[in-house]
Amino acid sequence: MSILLILSETQAEKIRGLLQKEIPEEKIFIWPETGPAKDVEIVVSWGHSPGIFRTFPNLKLIASFGAGVDHILSDPDLPEDVPICRFVADSLSRQMADYVTGAILAYRLRLVDYREYQAAGSWTPHAPRPGNRVTVLGLGELGRCTVEQLQAMGFATSGWSRTRKSLDNCACHAGRKELGAAVMDADYVVCLLPLTSETQGILNRDLFNMMKEGAYLINAARGDHLVVDDLLDALYQGHVAGACLDVFEQEPLPQDSPLWRHPRILVTPHVASVSRSRDLTDYILENYRALRAGLPPVNPVDTALGY
Ligand code: NDP
Ligand code: OXD
Repeated sequence: MSILLILSETQAEKIRGLLQKEIPEEKIFIWPETGPAKDVEIVVSWGHSPGIFRTFPNLKLIASFGAGVDHILSDPDLPEDVPICRFVADSLSRQMADYVTGAILAYRLRLVDYREYQAAGSWTPHAPRPGNRVTVLGLGELGRCTVEQLQAMGFATSGWSRTRKSLDNCACHAGRKELGAAVMDADYVVCLLPLTSETQGILNRDLFNMMKEGAYLINAARGDHLVVDDLLDALYQGHVAGACLDVFEQEPLPQDSPLWRHPRILVTPHVASVSRSRDLTDYILENYRALRAGLPPVNPVDTALGY
């Protein structure tokens, strides 16, 4: 058996080193080196070339390097019978909760504005922005942790998911019909949904029209959730007050994107929550051991649902 890592070289080298200490008997390759194709049983992937999974006739598991699996499921030539699992870790959820809280506080306390006043040498005091209700779209691993952290900091929270959830002190909405109710009184709307055929383009004109005038948008899920032109219109009309965006349809964000220089958009380079090598190694090992023991994968993906 062998394990193939399709990751950036630096991270792959680090993970290979950690894995090799735990399972010295196994061969671990870093793409584009694969060893004999028939030996590859696990591929850990982030940004593979479509069609390559099929070239491994004994592949038993595709493990996403990240929490999202859209990069795997979008492969039109995916082998149907190979299970897929995804990365879930406390560290990932906590980083996301920090990112969202940070984005909200930066906006609420006008920290980005003050940076500009500072550049102009202008002493311009303002009160913090009012409003403390946050709606989180997606109440999965990242969404729940984010809700809990926001609550601990005194924010009022609402959430939205596909199936109904019951979370303490959080108004939980479910399904398309309740999307309007979920966002209508929010001062901040945060997208932490997986990218699926159901959620692609969900941050669009219709949603912005359902939101309270002057609300702030945070998208830390996937770029394809957002219809950029609809956001630019909503910002122009003042319906959406501002946005913090971590993810983009094309990454790195192209230089000619209007998002770069928009005065009311804060751009971060897909850093909201980063998969750490030690945690990734543990996740790969857990799945390796499950496979060896004939058990189902840990954190399996429902390919029909797309997450
Ligand atoms: P989970 O699968 O744990 O949670 C997904 C949530 O979204 C669930 O609550 C699910 O509902 C809900 N959902 C899915 N489809 C729909 C729908 N059609 N309508 C309403 N709700 C829906 O995912 P994670 O929390 O682990 O991760 C979420 C996403 O965050 C990832 O897919 C990835 O794209 C992104 N991400 C971004 C990072 C970054 O650095 N920017 C880092 C890590 C992840 P239900 O509970 O009913 O199933
Ligand atoms: C992920 C990501 O999906 O980093 O984990 O975007």
